[in-house]
Amino acid sequence: MTHRIAVLPGDGVGPEVVVEARRVVDALGLGVEWTELPWGSAWYHEHGAMMPEDALDVLSAHDAVLMGAIGDPTVPDHVTLWGSILAIRQRLDLWANVRPARLLPGVPCPLVGRGPEHVDMLFVRENTEGEYAGVGGRSHRGLASEVALETSVFTRSGVERVVRYAFGLAAGRRAILTSATKSNASRFGYVLWDEVVEEVAAEFPGVRVERVLVDALAARMVRDPAGLDVVVASNLFGDVLTDLAAAIQGGMGMAASANVAPGAVGLFEPVHGSAPDIAGHGVANPCGAIWSAALMLEHLGEAEAAARVIDALEAVCREGPRTRDIGGDAGTGEVGAAVAARLVA
Ligand code: IPM
Ligand code: MN
Repeated sequence: MTHRIAVLPGDGVGPEVVVEARRVVDALGLGVEWTELPWGSAWYHEHGAMMPEDALDVLSAHDAVLMGAIGDPTVPDHVTLWGSILAIRQRLDLWANVRPARLLPGVPCPLVGRGPEHVDMLFVRENTEGEYAGVGGRSHRGLASEVALETSVFTRSGVERVVRYAFGLAAGRRAILTSATKSNASRFGYVLWDEVVEEVAAEFPGVRVERVLVDALAARMVRDPAGLDVVVASNLFGDVLTDLAAAIQGGMGMAASANVAPGAVGLFEPVHGSAPDIAGHGVANPCGAIWSAALMLEHLGEAEAAARVIDALEAVCREGPRTRDIGGDAGTGEVGAAVAARLVA
């Protein structure tokens, strides 16, 4: 069976890490057909839009999407991102953003005295509504009375589906689900969220659920990450917590993500962004992109291939070569080649 993958290398270091993820997948010898799409900031300068009008149809005609990163200093971020990844997540209804935060052996952890045995968290971030609903507006521009509204939108169905998904993942792991809100200060959306968590918990008697305020959870992640298994959070809280989680697992270069929903074409991307400061130097860490490709394979039903990629990635992190952000001096291509070599051998 051939898997048809749309590739969105994008901007900055995106193309550099995506090429390594592709090299690793190709080394598996599966039937994979790549369609490279040139959308991104350069496309924007040429066409006045981040993607063509039929972009979502094009993506939906594939089995999965592998993305690098979008963002360039020459275009305002809210333009590039609402013209690409945020629109894709919302319009393809990819309502779960799954982000493993596991510290691999050999990768330095910034927390004193913590090692791989302490860091194995899985974040499930609501991915289409909440604080990223895109609802709001501005008026009285430039006047002292200027107003900007950014409205969070929480729907019962939207919260319920992502919370239930997170419970399901927790049930298959260490059976602890931590739900992060801020329902002491924000009285509507997060209170609804807490209520839905209580309700869905009844379907999963084997999972211990805890409700934690997001500020307290940030402190706990640093103090005692070992006590956390699956964390479910709103769009913005999930965004912030997963940068912290990435730092704990060795840095942004290590972090992977899956934008998914049952039955939908998933989009898989490293969490690090376009990193224009190091783009073009061949030093970006491809591990997050390679890990994202493993998540993609799993989603495509290639669980065994996915496990082989993770094994190879772990071996390379343990034995090197490593990029400089995780204590080595190798380039992006050397790391990608080393992971790929372990798969053909
Ligand atoms: C992420 C990124 C995006 C987000 C940005 C680029 C819009 O930070 O995937 O975590 O906030 O979702
Ligand atoms: Mn982020």
